[in-house]
Amino acid sequence: MSIEPTPIDAELARYVRDHAWGRDEALLEVERQTAAMGDLVALQTAPEQAALLELLARLAGARRAIEIGTFTGYGAIRIARGLAEGGTLLCCELDPERAAMARENLGAAGVGDRVEIEVGPAIETIRALPAEPFFDFGYLDAEKTGYPDYYEELLPRFNPGGLLAIDNVFRDGEVTNPESDAALAVADLNDRILADDRVESVMLGMTDGLTLVRRKQD
Ligand SMILES: C[S@@+](CC[C@H](N)C(=O)[O-])C[C@H]1O[C@@H](n2cnc3c(N)ncnc32)[C@H](O)[C@@H]1O
Repeated sequence: MSIEPTPIDAELARYVRDHAWGRDEALLEVERQTAAMGDLVALQTAPEQAALLELLARLAGARRAIEIGTFTGYGAIRIARGLAEGGTLLCCELDPERAAMARENLGAAGVGDRVEIEVGPAIETIRALPAEPFFDFGYLDAEKTGYPDYYEELLPRFNPGGLLAIDNVFRDGEVTNPESDAALAVADLNDRILADDRVESVMLGMTDGLTLVRRKQD
C-alpha cells in the first residue's frame, strides 16, 4: 500500500475491464457492432467507464441528463439506465448515420423512450437551450478542441449539485506536454476547472482520464 498510484499496465487494464459491471447482451451487441467498425472502435466509451456513468447518474438521482458526442450510443444506454423514474436524456451527435445507429441501439436496449437525439453541432444544440439551470447529469465526450466552450455553455445549465463527467482529460497522455490543438484545449479546461469557484471536481485516472465536476450549491 502506498500513496503512489499502482501503475495500470495492459494486464491490469484488462482485469478492470473484465470486472466492469452490467454488460448485458444489449451492451455486448453494441460492443461487437462498434468493434466491427475498425479504428473507429477507439471512439466508444470504455465498458468500465460506462458502468461508472450509470452508477453516477443513479447516485445523482438524475432526471435531466445530456450527452455531448453519442457515437453508437454505448454510454447513452448506460446513462439512460441510471436515470430516475421519468428521467430523460438529450444526446447531441453531429453525424446523422451515427445518430441513427445510436437510436437503434438505445431502442434495442429498452431505453429509447427516454432518450432524444439531436443531430448537428452540439454547441448549437446547447446554445439553443435556455441559459438556466436544468440538467443534473452530463457527459462531455465530443471533439476535444471544443471542450472549453462546451464547459462554459453547459455549466450555467446545470442545477446546483449537478454532475458533469468529462472524458479524455489525459488526451492519450499528451495533456502534460500539450502540442496539438486538442491537447491544448483539454489542458486549458483542466486548469480552468481547478480554478473555478463554481465547482468541486476530481480527476480520475481511469481509461483516458475522466473528470467529475459538481456544480456547487449557490
Ligand atoms: C468519442 S465519440 C463519443 C462516444 C460515446 N459517448 C460513447 O459512449 O461511445 C465522439 C462523438 O462526438 C461526435 N462529434 C464530434 N464533433 C461533434 C460536434 N461538434 N457536435 C456533436 N457531436 C460531435 C462524433 O461524431 C463522435 O460520434
